[in-house]
Amino acid sequence: MIIFENINKTYIKNKQQVNALNDINLKIETGDIYGLIGWSGAGKSSLIRLVNQLEKPTSGTVMVDGVNVNNLTGTAQRQHKKNIGMIFQHFNLLESKTVAQNIAIPLVLQGISRPEIDQRVDAMLAYVDLTAKKDSYPSQLSGGQKQRVGIARALITEPTILLCDEATSALDPQTTLSILKLLKQINDERKITILLVTHEMEVIASICNKVAVMEKGQIIEQGSVLDIFSTPKQETTKKFVSTVLSPQIPEAILASLPQQNNIFRLEFVGDSAKKPVVNELILKQLVEINILFGNMREISGVVLGSMFIQMNGTEDKIETAVTFLKDKGVHIERGVA
Ligand SMILES: Nc1ncnc2c1ncn2[C@@H]1O[C@H](COP(=O)(O)OP(=O)(O)OP(=O)(O)O)[C@@H](O)[C@H]1O
Ligand SMILES: [Mg+2]
Repeated sequence: MIIFENINKTYIKNKQQVNALNDINLKIETGDIYGLIGWSGAGKSSLIRLVNQLEKPTSGTVMVDGVNVNNLTGTAQRQHKKNIGMIFQHFNLLESKTVAQNIAIPLVLQGISRPEIDQRVDAMLAYVDLTAKKDSYPSQLSGGQKQRVGIARALITEPTILLCDEATSALDPQTTLSILKLLKQINDERKITILLVTHEMEVIASICNKVAVMEKGQIIEQGSVLDIFSTPKQETTKKFVSTVLSPQIPEAILASLPQQNNIFRLEFVGDSAKKPVVNELILKQLVEINILFGNMREISGVVLGSMFIQMNGTEDKIETAVTFLKDKGVHIERGVA
């Protein structure tokens, strides 16, 4: 478990004080894939880098599995660092070393014997599907392959925590998916806790179970991914969620309608998304229904989404239809905003 307690971090830049982190309190449970999201400069990297002591807090404590990280020195510090792997946006590979040599670096630093290094590196190459690239140099690899080397190097010491700082931000969408799939597999199979920094809500939706939203050095909202996607509270969170669940009706669809009255937004979560409620409503023939736009998405194993419909009929029939939908667990709002 990772616990950030009352964390503040101040940098001094050109004699100016920069408050990068303000009173951060956050708990990451063992086995989580915990996402930290925020715009550029929010303090995400500053926070994640406290875990493996790449940065030190100005005040506050970081506890990892019951140990205060701030006070570690000597053997305890080496043991702590071995327990934490990290991957980066630009991979941070040594260009003059082969794939196998890059992956071996942490083991060489630990003074492990050559035969054991070779055996562990070969097993790791197979795990990240890079056996064929063993003797290639980073310049001969694609971005996705480079990140697989980064992941292999991070996992070679058998850590229990993996830190990922924008690990897919330099990759195309297809490659991003394959790396996210690998991270999920690592979390499942190796029981590794993952703390992941990103500015893409899609990454959070794809693999995280929990998320904290950061703004100006603070955590403005945190919770399960499902709760944050289904009921975002802060404006910034709503903006991030809308990049995945586009809650707006497209202008082009609105413009094509002869009349723009009696438009309703239906929001589905979980069970209500699986039931054919709109179909039932159509069969009831209370009102005439025009389905305008819909967007459904599976997040954390639950289907979430919204649909815009236009209902034509008398006001009391529309009211009955609205009540019917509410009774079925659908959140419904009138209007297009
Ligand atoms: N070494 C440093 N010296 C001075 N200021 C720094 C340093 N590192 C970060 N900062 C400042 O601290 C604030 C938070 O930076 P941080 O890198 O943690 O943000 P971030 O959320 O990771 O942003 P990005 O998405 O751009 O990576 C910013 O205002 C940044 O300029
Ligand atoms: Mg950063």
